[in-house]
Amino acid sequence: MPKFAFVNNKLINFKNAKVHIEDRGLQFADSVYEVIAIINYKLIDFDYHIKRLKYSLKEIDIKYKINNQFFKKIFFKIIKKNNTSNGIIYLQITRGVQYRDHKYQNKLIPTLIIYSMSKKFNLPGKNFIGVNTITYEDLRWSRRDIKTVNLLPNIIAANKAKKNKAYEAILIKNGKVTEGTSSNIWIIKKNNLITHPANTNILKGVTRSSLLKIIKKIKLNFIEKSFTKKQLLDADEVFLTSSGSFVTPILSINKKKINKGKIGIITLRIAEMYYKSCMNG
Ligand code: PDD
Repeated sequence: MPKFAFVNNKLINFKNAKVHIEDRGLQFADSVYEVIAIINYKLIDFDYHIKRLKYSLKEIDIKYKINNQFFKKIFFKIIKKNNTSNGIIYLQITRGVQYRDHKYQNKLIPTLIIYSMSKKFNLPGKNFIGVNTITYEDLRWSRRDIKTVNLLPNIIAANKAKKNKAYEAILIKNGKVTEGTSSNIWIIKKNNLITHPANTNILKGVTRSSLLKIIKKIKLNFIEKSFTKKQLLDADEVFLTSSGSFVTPILSINKKKINKGKIGIITLRIAEMYYKSCMNG
């Protein structure tokens, strides 16, 4: 368990970290968040995360002015205090506290929550593993590009995966793959690397964006295009990406093996390249 959390500009004991019962984040999921990976005390893709946080805040009209340097300072402070060498920063900003009403008042003071926690990552090396997955209906709203804590459909699907001893649920909308409950999904077929376009149907993953930059070095046709459940199941290789999972190979979907249930060569190469870029970047 972490020792400290940063709540509303105060570093406090984790056990005493609380928000008000009329916080709009609690009552309406009126709130946005970010999850940022830490490796060897280093923040991964900090700038991308802050950029997306600003976008999410703007899209739901929460007026919170982000100072990148201040955030960086707080992140390092909390990482040090919690001694999080490897793990994640969890950051949440809610619209604030108000007498319960669907309509929000204009001058609320947003609630800011930041803490870090340790996590063991699945990184390329001798312990690198692939995972089993299931597919599940995408029940979410139509603004999945905003990283809100409005996550109930994700949670239902993720727990369906858990019941089936699977790591992730791959979400399907009208026969097409959107993304995972907390990850982006990629398929490789022949020389093509395909992932869903970054529109309002998916969250534009930070790991996804970073990967796109380094992928150019590999001789593959990169295609941002939605693909069907059938294409997913027929793919040569499949993998998922997220700040918590980096590049993780998918070895089976609904118990159907992908690449004979083994980590694919291209997936491994991409995972290694991404990990290397995290360490050097
Ligand atoms: N989830 N799609 C969804 C729906 C997500 O929730 C996430 C991240 C991603 C991948 O985004 P990124 O590469 O920026 O982490 C895609 C985080 C890790 C979470 O909710 O814990």
